[in-house]
Amino acid sequence: MQIFMDTANIDEIRRGAALGVVDGVTTNPSLLAKEGVEYRDRVLEIASVVDGPISAECISTEFEPLLAEARRIAAWHENVVVKIPMGEVGLQAIHRLSAEGIKINVTLIFSANQALLAAKAGATFVSPFVGRLNDGGQDGMAVIRESVEIFENYDLDTQVLAASIRGARDVTECALAGSHVATIPSAVLFQMMGHPLTDKGIEIFLRDAQKYSAV
Ligand code: E4P
Repeated sequence: MQIFMDTANIDEIRRGAALGVVDGVTTNPSLLAKEGVEYRDRVLEIASVVDGPISAECISTEFEPLLAEARRIAAWHENVVVKIPMGEVGLQAIHRLSAEGIKINVTLIFSANQALLAAKAGATFVSPFVGRLNDGGQDGMAVIRESVEIFENYDLDTQVLAASIRGARDVTECALAGSHVATIPSAVLFQMMGHPLTDKGIEIFLRDAQKYSAV
């Protein structure tokens, strides 16, 4: 499973990239708003750290302005994937833009049917929001499982990108479900590295190593 970082914070992205496990980055307007920087500047900064897909989101809601915005964002860098929200205008735009070779991540997916439509329209990635579904008492991971199965049934090239991840267990379940990608908040990614028994084990080995000479 590919691991993307779900953040626009460049320090967190640098720390994650240094681990050698980060395949891409996803951003959204809410993440950018925390940073107080220009969207394009930050995306280019991220592209200098991570050599992989970097999602940047459109905010236009009408068809022609959405096409123009998506084309402008796609031109920022070759690794940019344009994020477009699911919906009627979104699907029309995805159909048009994917035919132009623009890579699209369809965001705000909350059902396998939405994922199927987005894939048929030409999406490169679809992003089911696991955490927001779970927050509302629904089974977010079911949308990941169903979308993966549907794409496999019909050999669709679109990749399932599990989004709105809340904890380390979500990541394990995404991997078990066959999600192609999980985009993970920095805190969750860094937490995944550790385990109290790892810390305790290191402490014991270091203590015991005092009892002999290694050379
Ligand atoms: C990423 O592509 C999504 O925008 C993000 O995972 C949403 O996460 P949230 O539900 O925690 O805001």
